[in-house]
Amino acid sequence: MAESMQGLKRSHRCAELSKKNVGEQVTVMGWVQKTRNTGGLIFADLRDRSGLLQITFNSDKLSEEAFNKAYKLRSEFVIAVTGTVVEREGGVNQNLVTGEIEVVADSLRVLSEAETPPFPIEENSKTKEELRLKYRYLDLRRPDLQANLMLRSKVCMLTRAFLSEEGFLEIETPMLTKSTPEGARDYLVPSRVHPGSFYALPQSPQIFKQLLMCSGYDRYFQIARCFRDEDLRADRQPEFTQIDMELSFVDVDDVIDVNERLMAKVFKEAIGVEVPLPIQRMTWQEAMDRFGSDKPDLRFGMELHNVTEVVKDCEFVVFKSAIENGGSVRGINAEGQGAMPRKKIDALVDFAKGYGAKGLAYVAINEDGTYKSSFAKFMKPEEMDALVAAMDGKPGDLLLFAADKNKLVYDVLGALRLELANQMGILDKNEYRFVWITEFPLLEWSEEQGRYLAMHHPFTMPMEEDLQYLETEPGRVRAKAYDIVLNGTEIGGGSVRIHQDDIQERMFAALGFTKEAAYEQFGFLLNAFKYGVPPHAGLAYGLDRLVMLMAKEDSIRDVIAFPKVKDASCLMSEAPNVVDAKQLEELEIAVVKNEAIE
Ligand code: AMO
Ligand code: AMP
Repeated sequence: MAESMQGLKRSHRCAELSKKNVGEQVTVMGWVQKTRNTGGLIFADLRDRSGLLQITFNSDKLSEEAFNKAYKLRSEFVIAVTGTVVEREGGVNQNLVTGEIEVVADSLRVLSEAETPPFPIEENSKTKEELRLKYRYLDLRRPDLQANLMLRSKVCMLTRAFLSEEGFLEIETPMLTKSTPEGARDYLVPSRVHPGSFYALPQSPQIFKQLLMCSGYDRYFQIARCFRDEDLRADRQPEFTQIDMELSFVDVDDVIDVNERLMAKVFKEAIGVEVPLPIQRMTWQEAMDRFGSDKPDLRFGMELHNVTEVVKDCEFVVFKSAIENGGSVRGINAEGQGAMPRKKIDALVDFAKGYGAKGLAYVAINEDGTYKSSFAKFMKPEEMDALVAAMDGKPGDLLLFAADKNKLVYDVLGALRLELANQMGILDKNEYRFVWITEFPLLEWSEEQGRYLAMHHPFTMPMEEDLQYLETEPGRVRAKAYDIVLNGTEIGGGSVRIHQDDIQERMFAALGFTKEAAYEQFGFLLNAFKYGVPPHAGLAYGLDRLVMLMAKEDSIRDVIAFPKVKDASCLMSEAPNVVDAKQLEELEIAVVKNEAIE
């Protein structure tokens, strides 16, 4: 029978009690973790979000009715206990924060009984994620997830405090809106009042925050929910949260400065990690050349070497034809991996093929300095020696090469570098390596669409010195765009925006938009710019990714209270679902099954 709270007030959370409370009468409330019965004594571990506390129910001290109630306690019952804090008789429990004390109960109320949960509520649960997500409300009782969500709350609180102090205003922007320019697929919401018309849920507050700059708010921020209908991965969710900001009368350095100080504060105060300032900066080109990635993990070396010049005259067709086709040959040196078994090397070749490589050429340098190689037979001995020397190869090293178009070589080796680091177990989650990636290309050629696409979005400012190439060599123009990368994850990105119409028009032209098409999509922003627009710039963090790294988790699902799974459904609520015929009728929507798609 569930009892009420009437007349009771909680005095402490479980783990707030310590030796200094000995002798005090307290009232604690929470969930029963487990009980142990030793005849006249019943021990219960009581759990709340602060931690665990041992309660003892003593048949000598309690009424028979109260002791009987204690006898019937089971895991996950919700109870309230009033009692006295005493030093533990049975010795200190080192594993508990409250291990030096216990509460001897004077009275017990069972506020709610509980069925046996489908999995035990414990730290580092081995339960399959699917089951945990189905019963997310139980999973969220686990101390690890509770710690993650408490950390997330703290990060938000520190962010709000810091940005407010720096003169940012927190302003909300609409959820029911029009397409934004981030370029993922939109989630649409049908309008009942305007049948056949749809709102789009925002992919980011981008346009609205730029409008707020036009309206003179100067510095804006928002902890904003964003929606993107794209394929999910460990670090992507269909709805996720950004720490979003925009600033007026600034350039790249101003945005970077305030954000470095924000990161330093948040890391120091939330998890006690010092972020040395200034954070290192690297141009996009340097990141690609050295790490094969625009989000390089700087916790380890294994940098790419461009050996195109070294092998350009050799007879190995793989190398030769890649170079003739305008590509390059690059390699990485997996130091000390020269003894890797053939099977494992073959698995790396398959891994590379997964990234589009046609193959992966390798040289293992034996301890005696001879080579075991997949292509030595096509090379002269002195060419092999020169190649190994260019890679700083030493006995015991494994050299891996990709030859292809630059983009593919970067992709393959960038991914391979991370794969090897994972296999070698050299990535330390306690180390935090930040880097700003700057000077991104403004445009990216899309083979699929046969035109240039904005790498960031169409409002990103080209670098002044490259503007001259916007019409003649668009691919060469760099942007005033920057990403902040932490341990190989892009945690945030932003740019200086275009505020001059002539540049915006040239940008739309480069993207193959007519003026009409641009106005159709972003007219209200372009019109706003006609009435006085300050130069402005901004940035948005993926809050989920940031907290994931701070919590040392591998998936953003572990720092989101109610996440979705790979097919974008929620296993707990079973969203999305079929709706009532009546609802559809009101919206004048008919669902047509497309056999061709099924
Ligand atoms: P961008 O598209 O780079 O920029 O997004 C900013 C940051 O949001 C995070 N992020 C995601 N996190 C989880 N799941 C997703 N599906 C997801 N997509 C993005 C990333 C990313 O760095 N309006 C611009 C910002 C600006 O220019 O000010 C924008 O949205 O960590
Ligand atoms: P083959 O002569 O095709 O057996 O290739 C010899 C070696 O070159 C094999 O180890 C292949 O995996 C490798 N290889 C093939 N294509 C490429 C490529 N594009 N880049 C690097 N290595 C390759």
